[in-house]
Amino acid sequence: MPVVAIIGAQWGDEGKGKVVDMLAEKSSMVVRFAGGDNAGHTVINPLGKFKLHLIPSGIFYPGVSCIIGNGVVVNPASLISELEMLEEHNVDTRGLIISDRAHLIMPYHMLFDELEEKSRGKMAIGTTLRGIGPAFTDKVARMGIRMGELLDKRSLRRRLAAVIEEKNTILTRVYQAEPLSVEEVYSEYARYADRLKPYIKDTVGLIDKSLENEELVLLEGAQGAMLDLDFGTYPFTTSSSPLSGNASLGSGVAPNRIDRILGIFKAYCTRVGSGPLPTELKDEMGDKIRETAQEYGTTTGRPRRCGWFDGVAARFSAQINGFTGAVITRIDVFDSFPSLKVCVAYNLKGKEIRRFPASISDLEQCRPVYEELPGWRQDTTGVRKWEDLPPQAQNYINKLSSVMGCQVNLACIGPERAQTIEVNPVF
Ligand code: IMP
Repeated sequence: MPVVAIIGAQWGDEGKGKVVDMLAEKSSMVVRFAGGDNAGHTVINPLGKFKLHLIPSGIFYPGVSCIIGNGVVVNPASLISELEMLEEHNVDTRGLIISDRAHLIMPYHMLFDELEEKSRGKMAIGTTLRGIGPAFTDKVARMGIRMGELLDKRSLRRRLAAVIEEKNTILTRVYQAEPLSVEEVYSEYARYADRLKPYIKDTVGLIDKSLENEELVLLEGAQGAMLDLDFGTYPFTTSSSPLSGNASLGSGVAPNRIDRILGIFKAYCTRVGSGPLPTELKDEMGDKIRETAQEYGTTTGRPRRCGWFDGVAARFSAQINGFTGAVITRIDVFDSFPSLKVCVAYNLKGKEIRRFPASISDLEQCRPVYEELPGWRQDTTGVRKWEDLPPQAQNYINKLSSVMGCQVNLACIGPERAQTIEVNPVF
């Protein structure tokens, strides 16, 4: 059985949770490889509707190991409340495993996220204020504290004392903020350590065993490709890489063991936070998409910015991720639309371009070049087979496939597991 990476292909919120939840049925392991509790994966299944931020979306299948990989930054308070929420719904959480190499989000990370956002003024990124950026900054600066360190409290206290001394200097001298108390942070994290200890393990060997047994392993991404630090709309990005390349680094699965890379796209585009979104609709059409699709953030509740499908960004995303196939979610959102537009190129300073520019100022000046397609004006939510989809919906999906240069494996026409149409087999 193959290893499949599931990647957000646009600006996040594409519906990865549903896809992982569906494919997890046949898998033995789901490994989350990036981000932190900035992510919000909504899963609707016979047990209810769940909003997951850290725990891999495979948790609903008893017997599936759900690993929070080394590439994730973990807020322990948030993880514990997610565990408690699942337990209240009688979901068996014994399959959860946390990599001892994953980094911890500390109280000072959340403080700095807020203080840094304030000091950015008009250039604020619109982060989720979960401390994600500062936690990844500390990882790279080699000042981070890892999950495994919770297992040795004496050394944890020593590390905290050293790190907090430095953080307090910045808090008090740069931001004129209150210093943190080492004792308070230590006793809070010592409590988390007691609660999370059974889940913290070296995950490399465990994953390797599943690979050796040729079991289906899913590598679950977070956020979306256009929020990538290198290839996204920098500096309006997140702080870890949502790309397929990081599926390997963030999990410990070697790149040559990944067999399939599935790009998850919405039938249109959304974005939360600041930064360019070339096809954004700041008019009634944008509102119509937002209200029909209920596009409000899972983590922050913020209204999402909405726009037509951006084929230029999609093709770029397919290229840098090496998608072997795509999943198009939320086709049903367009059920009542008389016509739809797909952006096939940008007009930049009078010139038509088909590449996704690196520069923010170029991106802000890009005007989408659209092709208009007829809508289907029909309820698709009950359709289960490709041949039963209205021809205009088939035509729309085929158009997206040709624009992004990648075959479509699945099309989703609703949030439930069954509301999925196979266009081409994933395996
Ligand atoms: P951060 O990841 O909290 O630092 O936020 C950086 C940018 O990424 C902001 O624009 C956020 O809105 C965006 N972002 C972070 N996580 C998600 C997500 O799961 N979905 C969509 N956008 C996200």
